[in-house]
Amino acid sequence: MTSSSWTFAVSRDNLEKSILSDGDTPSPGSGEVVLRVDRVGLTANNVTYAVLGSSMRYWDFFPPAARGLGPEWGLPPLWGFADVVASRVPGVLEGRRFYGFLPPASDLIVRADRIDETGFHDASPHRADLPSPYNSYRLTTGDPAYRHDQEDLMILLRPLFFTSFMLADYLVDNAFFGASTLVVSSASSKTAYGAALSLRGSGPRLIGLTSPGNVAFTRSLGCYDEVLPYGADLGDPGPTAYLDLSGTPATRAELRAKLGSSLVRDVAVGLTNQVPDIDAADELFFAPVQMGKRRRDWGRDELDRRFAEAWHRFTGAVGGWLSTEVGHGPDGLRSAWSDVLAGRVRPNVGRIVQL
Ligand SMILES: NC(=O)c1ccc[n+]([C@@H]2O[C@H](COP(=O)([O-])OP(=O)(O)OC[C@H]3O[C@@H](n4cnc5c(N)ncnc54)[C@H](OP(=O)(O)O)[C@@H]3O)[C@@H](O)[C@H]2O)c1
Repeated sequence: MTSSSWTFAVSRDNLEKSILSDGDTPSPGSGEVVLRVDRVGLTANNVTYAVLGSSMRYWDFFPPAARGLGPEWGLPPLWGFADVVASRVPGVLEGRRFYGFLPPASDLIVRADRIDETGFHDASPHRADLPSPYNSYRLTTGDPAYRHDQEDLMILLRPLFFTSFMLADYLVDNAFFGASTLVVSSASSKTAYGAALSLRGSGPRLIGLTSPGNVAFTRSLGCYDEVLPYGADLGDPGPTAYLDLSGTPATRAELRAKLGSSLVRDVAVGLTNQVPDIDAADELFFAPVQMGKRRRDWGRDELDRRFAEAWHRFTGAVGGWLSTEVGHGPDGLRSAWSDVLAGRVRPNVGRIVQL
């Protein structure tokens, strides 16, 4: 066996500490498929997976033990494309390309199940009770949102926009909880942008909160009615719902103190600030839950159709300001991880790694 397989992992206790380990090229057992991880992206969302690695079980998708690493290490999940390099599953052919949840590693063994023209699910026992959307691998040829010339946008933005889309839908579905103003933190993030774009013109006034250095950029996006730095006076915004993507405890505390009973809903969506503060909110927004509801309400095909339509609108808009920086191989991955973790990536940039 050649030793061309590798894995990147981070210390669960200190996300700045990482390791690259070598292994043997895997071969598939009966019912298994080997995916070669080809191209992935990193945004603050992947750091959030690591921050919530234990509490929300993101470490469980790609167990370090299977790669000869101890339990002190974790593999932060990434989104991207992978190609089938070996298969012992009829219907999943070598050379096919899939989009999905991938380890920061050269390869992944999956047990392909529920195979149809849109892709398959990984039925590996350790993933059985993890949220189903993360176990789904979409075949490029069976996905109405896929376009070959937009792979990098899909790598960086699809899971984020899926949340944006479902979050906007969740608010509309609940008549904005009576709010006439929506306050969004980490307004410069790609997830916030997608949500604001989807919500613009739907009724409530949109106020984006961001770091002082990101105010000008966030205003230039044109999707918020107002953009303010953290800590600014909001005036009297009336009934307000807070969509919290930064997770910064001080911002939440300040909004509660200033708005009092006008704060009609407080929804934790993310934690770009890397401080878990979800329990302090009224609720945690988890896109797969609203997705499950809409699958029941609309059916899978209609949900796919609506998402693809919104996705194409979104990529048309985001293509105007987002640029990508592409790194290569394990070292490129390590460097992208440390830059995203440290908040060194400008909001108009997306980091891609060709492995
Ligand atoms: N609940 C869900 O289902 C779900 C799904 C997708 C994403 N999310 C969450 O949404 C959030 C945004 O994700 P994204 O991938 O869209 O982010 P992104 O585009 O990479 O966001 C970058 C922004 O996050 C803030 N930020 C980044 N690094 C930081 C650091 N080290 N310290 C403090 N602030 C930092 C800055 O915004 P400001 O200056 O504007 O604060 C920065 O412009 C994440 O927490 C993610 O997990 C949740």
